[in-house]
Amino acid sequence: MQPKPPVHYGDYLQLGKILDAQLPESSKRGQMAHDEMLFIIIHQTYELWFKQILHEIDSVRAILKLVPMPSTALATIVGRLQRVTEIQRILVEQIRVIETMTTLDFLDFRDDLIPASGFQSLQFKLLETALGVRATHRLEIEKQFFQSRLKPEERSTLESASQETSLFDLLQAWLERMPFSQFAEWDFWSQYATKVEQMLHRDEQLITNNPNLDEKVRKMELSNLNTTRETFLTVLDASRWEKARKEGKVRLSQTATLNAIFIQLYRDWPVMQVPKQILNLTIEIDELMTTWRYRHAIMVQRILGTKIGTGGSAGSDYLKQTTERNRVFTDFFNLSTFLIPRHEIPALPDFMQIEMGFSYDGHKL
Ligand code: HEM
Repeated sequence: MQPKPPVHYGDYLQLGKILDAQLPESSKRGQMAHDEMLFIIIHQTYELWFKQILHEIDSVRAILKLVPMPSTALATIVGRLQRVTEIQRILVEQIRVIETMTTLDFLDFRDDLIPASGFQSLQFKLLETALGVRATHRLEIEKQFFQSRLKPEERSTLESASQETSLFDLLQAWLERMPFSQFAEWDFWSQYATKVEQMLHRDEQLITNNPNLDEKVRKMELSNLNTTRETFLTVLDASRWEKARKEGKVRLSQTATLNAIFIQLYRDWPVMQVPKQILNLTIEIDELMTTWRYRHAIMVQRILGTKIGTGGSAGSDYLKQTTERNRVFTDFFNLSTFLIPRHEIPALPDFMQIEMGFSYDGHKL
């Protein structure tokens, strides 16, 4: 067998291809705009990071499909999701680099780019889809624009990606498999409902007896409290929750939501540490994605003002709309609604303390 030739840095990293891949449009008309190099390199850098994020999210999705999941797999998921959040922080921070380009610098080559646009970032759309953005949920203009601007092969890649189970769906199924929404030997949820009612009653008393409130404000505060009560009643009632789901007010199933509430309430117990981290990292990913969208929208406003984008959208106004609309894990944030003070949380019965604490061979450690 021939000895393997020594690996060479530049060959291994394919630097020939990567460093020869900056072809400014402005130089094609013989007037190279200085900042177009930055514009190309920053987009390429983003696309490389998108590739890495997709690699991590795809692997996490593959692990979540394993039922039952090996016990150590959860730690792998945590490590990879943490890596995604670190990359996202760089993606947000990197916007500062593009902001060193002024409007006049951009106008030197903007028209050369039309009709190319970030709409056509297939990897960004794949990432949104992998996380759980659904085509039906996208803004009408967004659907039309990016669908018509993608190449046919890109459209079919996106189409098949949207047939795959998203991170949202897999996390939901994982939460649904947890045993916390019903216990044969412990009626946790009725104890929880009692504590909630006591908490709401105390709030009601505080508002009713507050001498500093005028009647109008008191009425408004009581009505807000009633909305909170309705929210609790909804989460504890399967048919109400299903109705709210059909109306698009919530997305996560009731069983998954109840189990996630249980994890968040008993998050300090050893068995809950890793599930809690997974919930928190999911929230973090959504928050950083939303932060990136908003930072991008504000940067676009700074550079374009109210001009339309090269892809023909309303520019920063459009981007601000997708910032909120394309969020996937809002229900994970809203779990906080259902938390009650630590001292009110029902105490775990003995059998649960063994199950959820550090124990070996049935003995507490
Ligand atoms: C001068 C800098 C930039 C400007 C003026 C700009 C402008 C815009 C505008 C106006 C849109 C809306 C679509 C359109 O009408 O074209 C858009 C979309 C987008 N841009 Fe940028 N952008 C800039 C830099 C970047 C960078 C560095 C990235 C990194 C990958 C990026 C990624 C995207 C993505 C992924 C979308 C689609 C977002 C969505 O559909 O929700 N943009 N951009």
